[in-house]
Amino acid sequence: MYKETQVMTLLNKYVRILKYNILHLILSEFWVDIAKEFFWKTKHTGQFLDYNFDVTKGEIFVKCMEGATTNICYNVLDRNVHEKKLGDKVAFYWEGNEPGDEKTVTYRELLQEVCKFANVLKLQGVKKGDRVSIYMPMVVELVVAMLACARIGAVHSIVFAGFSAESLCERIIDSQCSLLVTADGFYRGDKLINLKVIADEALEKCRDKSFPVERCIMLKHLSKEEQEASSPGSLSPPAKRSCPDLQVPWNPEVDVCWHSLMEGASDECEPVWCESEDPLFILYTSGSTGKPKGVLHTVSGYMLYTATTFKLVFDYHPDDVYWCTADIGWITGHSYITYGPLANGATSVLFEGLPTYPDVSRMWEIVDKYHVSKFYTAPTAIRLLMKYGSEPVHKYKRSSLKILGTVGEPINPEAWQWYYNVVGDGRCPVVDTFWQTETGGHVLTPLPAATPLKPGSATFPFFGVVPAILNESGEELEGPNEGYLVFKQPWPGVMRTVFGNHQRFETTYFKKFPGFYVTGDGCRRDKDGYYWITGRIDDMLNVSGHLLSTAEVESALVEHEAVAEAAVVGTPHPVKGESLYCFVTLTDGIDYTTTLEAELRKQVREKIGAIATPDYIQNAPGLPKTRSGKIMRRLLRKIASNQQDLGDVSTLADSTVIEQLFENRCCTAL
Ligand code: PRX
Repeated sequence: MYKETQVMTLLNKYVRILKYNILHLILSEFWVDIAKEFFWKTKHTGQFLDYNFDVTKGEIFVKCMEGATTNICYNVLDRNVHEKKLGDKVAFYWEGNEPGDEKTVTYRELLQEVCKFANVLKLQGVKKGDRVSIYMPMVVELVVAMLACARIGAVHSIVFAGFSAESLCERIIDSQCSLLVTADGFYRGDKLINLKVIADEALEKCRDKSFPVERCIMLKHLSKEEQEASSPGSLSPPAKRSCPDLQVPWNPEVDVCWHSLMEGASDECEPVWCESEDPLFILYTSGSTGKPKGVLHTVSGYMLYTATTFKLVFDYHPDDVYWCTADIGWITGHSYITYGPLANGATSVLFEGLPTYPDVSRMWEIVDKYHVSKFYTAPTAIRLLMKYGSEPVHKYKRSSLKILGTVGEPINPEAWQWYYNVVGDGRCPVVDTFWQTETGGHVLTPLPAATPLKPGSATFPFFGVVPAILNESGEELEGPNEGYLVFKQPWPGVMRTVFGNHQRFETTYFKKFPGFYVTGDGCRRDKDGYYWITGRIDDMLNVSGHLLSTAEVESALVEHEAVAEAAVVGTPHPVKGESLYCFVTLTDGIDYTTTLEAELRKQVREKIGAIATPDYIQNAPGLPKTRSGKIMRRLLRKIASNQQDLGDVSTLADSTVIEQLFENRCCTAL
């Protein structure tokens, strides 16, 4: 009996090792075959993927295709133009905020502009490895700027143009950027955003913090007449509407005009050959401590992963017209507007505007106008449009649509059904793609027509992704279960570090459960093996598909002199998924007034950006705390959503605050 057990244990061990090695061998072969479709200046030498995911065994690292050199810009542009003869193919149909503002850009034109801007950057002293901050609206020049960085091996750090001056400044300093690329302004629907004013404020703040940025290149997007005169061939033509309120402050010591620099620039620029693991970009995402994390992605693995997921998840065909409605300021735009589609030689729509401007049919009008076949958006947009019923959708045919994608947050089955039945007329598979800034590309996702769908489930892992569900003690749960979603091994596109803080990378993602990458999401696996994301299980909120940390909003609130303490929780919202509910305890002697409330909202908007504007602010003379002084957020979440059943409150230091908080509840949102 004893001997048998020993033998069985040994056999099992060998079977496991064999299975593991076979899996790795197949996976390596899979990726090595894909890599053959790309251009490599020098080939890789070692194994395809080398890594350590276990903090107890040493430093966490992921290395893909070590020894290889390439250039991602060369792969997504030059190769398409020269090798694949796609020079005349449309890379982007740019559709401006204002209907009628449009421009078509071919692969050849894009390559020329990128080369010119790469030369501009070089003339400004930007070298391989330098960081460049980009703060721009959704114009083709944003893609030009990011690819120009990639071409010369510079690292782009794009900051979403909805972020505040303070957020931009924080990101510029953290990534130590020497140069900022921005634009004069843009319209979001009817609202003018004076982007250069905000950018200048950010640069002023940087100077105050002893970090002077030497150069700021400004694109004239709205300054109509001047732009027409100085740059007749501009990629995104000036907006049709006049902008009497546009303000364009100018600091001659720092500012330079995009158009005049481009005028004299050559359209030939030899790419800089980069090592596989050279940094490609930094993109900031909220961190649970409040300070954003600079997620770092590297060249080769990210290129292979975004190209492959794009191709398979959207079942890409050369005659497709693809449209992802995200902003390039978020990871979805990086991976699935710029790098993934361009790597495949795809034609995409690049949209500057809003789904509701000038009316709620705009999306479907664009779908028909460009014959969009693959469409990718967020549940929050679907829920928003769903409110207006099917009539605005039915005004347009949408017969070109073949696949509908969703990303950013769990999609509720009702929204899924509406998307599938109303938008897709019940004939287009919905690909619910789960991923993160950190994962670089889709990690849980259906493959259209191959995966039977279940509304609300991101279904199964992509090739090479090995998920697991753990309980609080870190034990792996088999079969149908619910717990922490983790990944057991890397895939080529996973992040490599937090820029300038590798320890934070290890602590955030690998410390809680050694041996696993921890996503921060809860997840359920059903009896058929389908994965269902249940939402964040850390101190993060998902507002309209954007992650925000409660700590970040709380610190913006307490910076106001009237606020002594703040606690922020999420509360369900029918369109945004979650909205921000803030409890504030005021400094002694200060009265809670509507003026103060408005000031607090403004304060958060100015510190972080409009996406973080609180929906509810409640005066909280006392907060529910444990005897050791820890705020019990679990109770605050219940109060925010008016759930009287509070569960166990025995650890509460003073239970009278609860009654008071229920009495003062806010019933109407902003
Ligand atoms: O909570 C998950 C949610 O969005 C988080 C990642 O946010 P971010 O890094 O900003 O990237 C968003 C775009 C990739 C995840 O941790 N999330 C993203 N996609 C889904 C999702 N939750 C459920 N289902 C999804 N399809």
